[in-house]
Amino acid sequence: MKNILLGITGSIAAYKTPELIRSFRANGMSVRVVLSESAKKFVTKTTLQAVSSNEVRSSLWDEKAEAAMSHIELARWADCILVAPTTANFMSKLVYGSAEDLLSTLCVASEAPIIISPAMNSVMWANKAVEENKKILNERGVGIIEPEYGDQACGEIGKGRMPEPDVILDYIENKYSLSSPLRSKKILITAGPTREAIDPIRYISNRSSGKMGYAMASAFSSFGCDVTLISGPSHLPTPDGIKMVKVESTQEMFKAVHNNLPKVEIFISAAAVSDYQCNNLSNQKIKKQGETLSLKLTKSPDILSSVAEQKKPPFTVGFAAETENLKKYAKEKLRLKSLDMIIANKVGKNIGFDVDENAVSVFWNGGEKKFEKKRKTILAQQLVELITERFCLKLDNSKMKTSNVMSIR
Ligand code: PMT
Repeated sequence: MKNILLGITGSIAAYKTPELIRSFRANGMSVRVVLSESAKKFVTKTTLQAVSSNEVRSSLWDEKAEAAMSHIELARWADCILVAPTTANFMSKLVYGSAEDLLSTLCVASEAPIIISPAMNSVMWANKAVEENKKILNERGVGIIEPEYGDQACGEIGKGRMPEPDVILDYIENKYSLSSPLRSKKILITAGPTREAIDPIRYISNRSSGKMGYAMASAFSSFGCDVTLISGPSHLPTPDGIKMVKVESTQEMFKAVHNNLPKVEIFISAAAVSDYQCNNLSNQKIKKQGETLSLKLTKSPDILSSVAEQKKPPFTVGFAAETENLKKYAKEKLRLKSLDMIIANKVGKNIGFDVDENAVSVFWNGGEKKFEKKRKTILAQQLVELITERFCLKLDNSKMKTSNVMSIR
């Protein structure tokens, strides 16, 4: 987590933001600030500019600022959007996807995770509408830093205070990279389709765009991991900070996976790998012949199984793409391929493949978890959190087993 876009909305707690920016910068992060109109009444642009060493933005219509870094570039620059303090009004804007000012537009236009730190009068915080908005945002994957109980600026005592900067920094450090148990861990991910050549110009492939696998790679990278992405043909740009290996066929992907496997701790197989390949690859273009043409195909190697079969396999996660019997088939693959976890998605026309959103059910030995339909980028962040949990549990269990064996000896 390097680039924090700090949105400040109109609450008295805005006075804490210069200190918050200093803490982020002291921990090696870059901060760009966007102020809402009402936030300007509580904290000045000059102060924030001085502590962030970056221009502070507040309007969508600032020609000079847009020429330097447009709001879309700003949305892409952010690894995380933190809105602190967040007013009740801004929470409702987030719920409705409002894009009427710079900050709300950025929240809609960015694929970065959003974290809010609500700060308001305790009666407002307990209000039913605010409570429901909180629930909706939570379900959508927005990180919520709970307000604290204590003296409030209005003279009341209750829950609604924005936590001190060190608490907010801790939250971000725990949620992302810095103190994540995955920090610096080696992660290997496959993504996209494979292409099986028929002749020099034709191939068999599928509709995978790579979006799910690339989102997983970005999410692991934002948790501080050392990520290698092995991708079949895809038009997507290489995510920042990721080692990319481009391949075409299943055989090439198999080779690339095994070349990069040493020291990998987590393997994610999101690629839509061809189950079959052409028996006899023609060196020349196959000429048009009779009314029908038969192609003989043979089974391709199963890359995922070959990783899980290693003597000391990494924590191995497969995907299951099914058009029917999702749970049954996914659980079968979990068992037959000896996986630690399987992420099952329904695929078909306009779902799963080549779309921006996905809904999945995750299965592991003795457990399951469902994730409702959401953007693949947000879903990937939540999947990484679940994988981290299961991975750490497996590590702890194997450490316990080793120490038991040693004490028996
Ligand atoms: O790329 P997108 O457009 O974003 O679409 C995402 C996706 C639908 C492709 C992705 O979410 C997904 O489901 N990927 C796995 C697709 C697939 O091949 O599923 P499967 O059920 O056929 O295979 C099961 C698992 O075995 C998969 O992890 C697959 O990568 C792996 N496999 C399959 C065959 C093979 N020869 N080698 C493999 O490693």
